[in-house]
Amino acid sequence: MTEKKVPAVLLNNGARMPGIGLGTFGSDKYSPDAIAAAVYGAVKDGYRLIDCAEVYGNEREIGESIKRLLDEGVVKREELFVVSKVWNNHHKAVKEACENTLAALGLDYLDAYYTHWPFPNYHAPGCDGDSRNPDSKPFSADEFVSTYRQCEELCYEGKIRAIGVSNMTVSKLEAVYPQLRIKPALIEMELHPAFRQPQLRAWCAEHGIQAVGFCPLGSPSRPERDKTSEDIAAMEMPHIRAIAERHGIHPAGVCLKWSSQSGAVPIPFSVKEPQYRANLAYLTGDPLTEEEMKEIDSSSADCRLIKGQVFLWEGAEDWQELWK
Ligand SMILES: NC(=O)c1ccc[n+]([C@@H]2O[C@H](COP(=O)([O-])OP(=O)(O)OC[C@H]3O[C@@H](n4cnc5c(N)ncnc54)[C@H](OP(=O)(O)O)[C@@H]3O)[C@@H](O)[C@H]2O)c1
Repeated sequence: MTEKKVPAVLLNNGARMPGIGLGTFGSDKYSPDAIAAAVYGAVKDGYRLIDCAEVYGNEREIGESIKRLLDEGVVKREELFVVSKVWNNHHKAVKEACENTLAALGLDYLDAYYTHWPFPNYHAPGCDGDSRNPDSKPFSADEFVSTYRQCEELCYEGKIRAIGVSNMTVSKLEAVYPQLRIKPALIEMELHPAFRQPQLRAWCAEHGIQAVGFCPLGSPSRPERDKTSEDIAAMEMPHIRAIAERHGIHPAGVCLKWSSQSGAVPIPFSVKEPQYRANLAYLTGDPLTEEEMKEIDSSSADCRLIKGQVFLWEGAEDWQELWK
């Protein structure tokens, strides 16, 4: 157990959310059982936020770990903050998707439920980067709002306590925000020292939406379909390595401290106990200095890793179109 308390953030629904979570996407590389074992170990070590999703294909196994943790008295349900996300092929059946997730996780409510992507385009699990679904289409504000309305219903029914959005842009948020009756409490976005998204962060901060940073370490184990030769590896950037050396920690620690100190909630993934232990401990150790934060914030690196090209529709030029 860590001795100093990990930070927490206050959401616009009045809930407190732990300042770091465990990611659970196995990147087509780690098995559901390995990830469920990491959830069990991580909660024992002090993690309280678990970032799940229907499409990760491991909610049943994670549910077994949660049951064990509750049965053994390691935590009470109200001490955990469990989130999940509706996958793109369930945008018209959000209630059913959420109920399946709740049954798999063995819970009667989620602390937050996200729209995983803002359009109904989906790909087969494990597909390669050139794979395209002929049914894919561009973002539609009306379709998004109709999906989001179903999340609002789940909130009114008490099945979810907050709504989150994910993989959004400022222009998409502006197109839908006025129509949302329950404003989103959370936004998941790619966030690491090589991709800091300052405009999106600022917009969300102005609107009281808490940023949750995915791929906080630059996702070194991401699936092959999400890798290109121009990608920048956050943990290998010279200034990140230099700061890590100064603090006597792994560059992962610099990425996580930066994320947390800039106001986001990072959700690093690992199934390796020394790594997930260390990741939690970084947030209770010495912070980065103001100068170090400025140095990271002034880097010219602006490299999106999760480009989403498998969600492109016919006629779309390239992945940049997804992020307009
Ligand atoms: N909303 C969305 O669309 C979305 C998209 C992507 C991800 N996510 C969420 O965000 C989570 C995190 O993203 P991610 O898994 O892609 O990337 P990440 O957390 O940036 O990177 C995870 C990888 O970093 C390495 N690592 C972890 N801790 C380390 C440490 N202390 N020292 C050295 N290396 C370390 C591990 O590599 P090895 O495996 O090689 O050990 C691990 O697999 C996901 O699991 C998922 O829950 C959400």
